Amino acid sequence: MSDLQTTLEAARTDGLQAVADAADAASLEEVRVKLLGRKGVVTSSMKEMSKLPAAERPAIGRLANTVRDELQTAVQKKVATLKAGGRGGRNGIDVTLPGRRRRIGLKHPISRVMDDCVAIFRRLGFVAVDGPDLEDEYHNFDALNTPADHPSRDIQDTFYLQDGRLLRTHTSPVQIRVMRQQPPPVRIVAPGRCYRRDTPDATHSMNFHQIEGLYIDENVSMADLKATLLNFAHEMFGKAVKLQMRPHFFPFTEPSVEIDISCVNCRGDGCSICKNSGWLEIAGAGMVDPEVFNSVGYDYETYTGYAFGMGIERIAMLRYEINDIRLLYENDVRFLAQF
Ligand code: PHE
Repeated sequence: MSDLQTTLEAARTDGLQAVADAADAASLEEVRVKLLGRKGVVTSSMKEMSKLPAAERPAIGRLANTVRDELQTAVQKKVATLKAGGRGGRNGIDVTLPGRRRRIGLKHPISRVMDDCVAIFRRLGFVAVDGPDLEDEYHNFDALNTPADHPSRDIQDTFYLQDGRLLRTHTSPVQIRVMRQQPPPVRIVAPGRCYRRDTPDATHSMNFHQIEGLYIDENVSMADLKATLLNFAHEMFGKAVKLQMRPHFFPFTEPSVEIDISCVNCRGDGCSICKNSGWLEIAGAGMVDPEVFNSVGYDYETYTGYAFGMGIERIAMLRYEINDIRLLYENDVRFLAQF
């Protein structure tokens, strides 16, 4: 075997390997020049051929041509692979990298709980209605029998605009809007945002949500209120949950109560979440005060009704075991993605 043949065979084996190993366009070009360039192995071998005895030339010539063609083809193929995104291509896409997942949007836990509340009350025959966040004193206070000197009107508690309007401090003004718009019977829920000048901490936010309920017809009683909210609590927290009413005061209901459910964490034994009482407050409620009926022109001799207002954040925090209300407003996707 001639030296030249050995050189060419080696150029083929090593060359093909080098082409395969080239990680990017630049190193491939380097390999190509070394093999096929003007001073490359193959080209110089071809020049050497003239020194061979005439009898050996045709065979070596054929070999040189094959090696050159094979290497050229390999280089071309590799160029194409790198462009299409072969492993580690500098300009191409590395198809061996794991794909990037598209994040799928989720409903915020507040919206989820609000929608679930509405769905539960809808099954009981309630219709969901809307009211404005920007209210006036009439709907937020006066018509709800809340006297001018009531502490909740205080600038400390209510956000007032310069024109005297205000950001609603509860969803109860929607009661007034609905009653002024239609005669009884009424069976509505009104979910929405409320605003109070509270200092934010783990359980207070200047901005929070309530769902208001209002049911007015002939012969509506406290028993109806309790049955409705017990049904709600069972649907939201499970059948084991108990309900209790505690006497309370609201200007727009008489009698007024606060509604507790048995602690969903300790089931009533007492724990840190229920502050060892076994109960968790979830709503304010009561029978609509005759003064409210008066202000909207309903006949309080014929009709009675109950109203309730529930805190959505409270329910969300209990349901998802969230211990700080502020987490709900930080919009940290790592937190929100858990629900
Ligand atoms: N509006 C009251 C509050 O925000 C709750 C409530 C609603 C009480 C309806 C009684 C009836 O605290």
